[in-house]
Amino acid sequence: MPELTREDVASWDEADPLLSFRDEFELPEDVLYLDGNSLGALPKKTAARLQQIVADEWGRDLIRSWNAHDWIRYPRRVGDRIAKILGAVPGQVIAADSTSVNLFKLLGAAVGLGGSRTGILSEEENFPTDLYVAQGFSGFLGTCRLKLVPRTALVTAIDDDVAVVTLTHVDFRTGEMHDMRELTRLCHERGALVIWDLSHSAGAVPLHLDRDDVDFAVGCGYKYLNGGPGAPAFLYVAARHQEAIRPPLSGWMGHEAPFAFDTDYRPAAGIERHLCGTPAILAMAALEVGVEIMARADMEQVRAKSKKMGDLFLRLVDETCDGLGLTPAGPRDSGKRGSQVSLRHAQGYPIMQALIAENVIGDFRAPDILRFGFTPLYLRYVDVWDAAMVLKRILESGAWQRPEFQKRQLVT
Ligand SMILES: Cc1ncc(COP(=O)(O)O)c(C=O)c1O
Repeated sequence: MPELTREDVASWDEADPLLSFRDEFELPEDVLYLDGNSLGALPKKTAARLQQIVADEWGRDLIRSWNAHDWIRYPRRVGDRIAKILGAVPGQVIAADSTSVNLFKLLGAAVGLGGSRTGILSEEENFPTDLYVAQGFSGFLGTCRLKLVPRTALVTAIDDDVAVVTLTHVDFRTGEMHDMRELTRLCHERGALVIWDLSHSAGAVPLHLDRDDVDFAVGCGYKYLNGGPGAPAFLYVAARHQEAIRPPLSGWMGHEAPFAFDTDYRPAAGIERHLCGTPAILAMAALEVGVEIMARADMEQVRAKSKKMGDLFLRLVDETCDGLGLTPAGPRDSGKRGSQVSLRHAQGYPIMQALIAENVIGDFRAPDILRFGFTPLYLRYVDVWDAAMVLKRILESGAWQRPEFQKRQLVT
């Protein structure tokens, strides 16, 4: 492989078709932000939009804003914008609640459609909230068996009892990506529905939910969609399933006529029945700004840059950190990787703390994973280069051994 220089990498930035998106985000000059897979950066327009909605819509127009500014249809409006990013036609996505809550709703929907099948199948490696929600749901129902198997045993575990398989598309620890199309096909062939958690996929990799015949999906608004801390999540239900579903969290906002104040629940037509309570309007407005930016980006360009950044980082780690205790935790093949690179090191926690102290921000996932997220809209190739050089310096100098880096914080 020819020697690569920082100048070479800087020339990639000059030719980057996504480069101008960086100007749409507030980023501290001295920070290399490799954690947009956990919390996306702040779009420049967000503060002004929030100020406007607070002053004009909430402050001046008060409760009239539900109609005057169409607050009531905000979850659907933002959902339709997200649908584009997911490869779905409008009318199948809403923005609401958290990913965990939406998962509960969709487990209820899927098991309800399962007929005599009542089982839920997932992989042991799934994100913990997905496992905990499935455990809570099956325990609450009492009649629904939850089966957790290793990733490698998934397909053979889809037996006649499985109503729904619930999976995360891109593994939060390793970045390994499932083949959504093929797994969905296999689940259907065996008579099961599928719920995909797209928290690490939406805005990170091209998605084709309609084309791939996906049944259900959920995902976070605060990661690659840049909706802000605790942003509303999203939920997708394929049009073909919608009318048959009776939502388990049947709140008034999902009623056919919330302001009729009927005694009995009647589901709203289509996707809106998956709303439960009053939407968080301020948070929805912030999410809309992030989603609007993402929806303008060409996802094929995003993917190409994300792969190239991940490959660059892995190459630099191979070349400069050899013998310093790092091993890749996920695929080297960029086609099988989401938009992150994960590295194992026995001292992963203090090393990440030392990186953060040097303004190279990634995160740590127990027991030993250093996680670096690549967000093509606002990260440059030179940032990847510089981050790798700081990592090398910290490992070579042993700077991570300082006592202040050993203390575990609540959030890692
Ligand atoms: C794959 C995955 N699903 C769900 C969540 C959590 O979702 P929420 O906190 O919105 O319920 C996360 C958070 O990082 C995640 O990575």
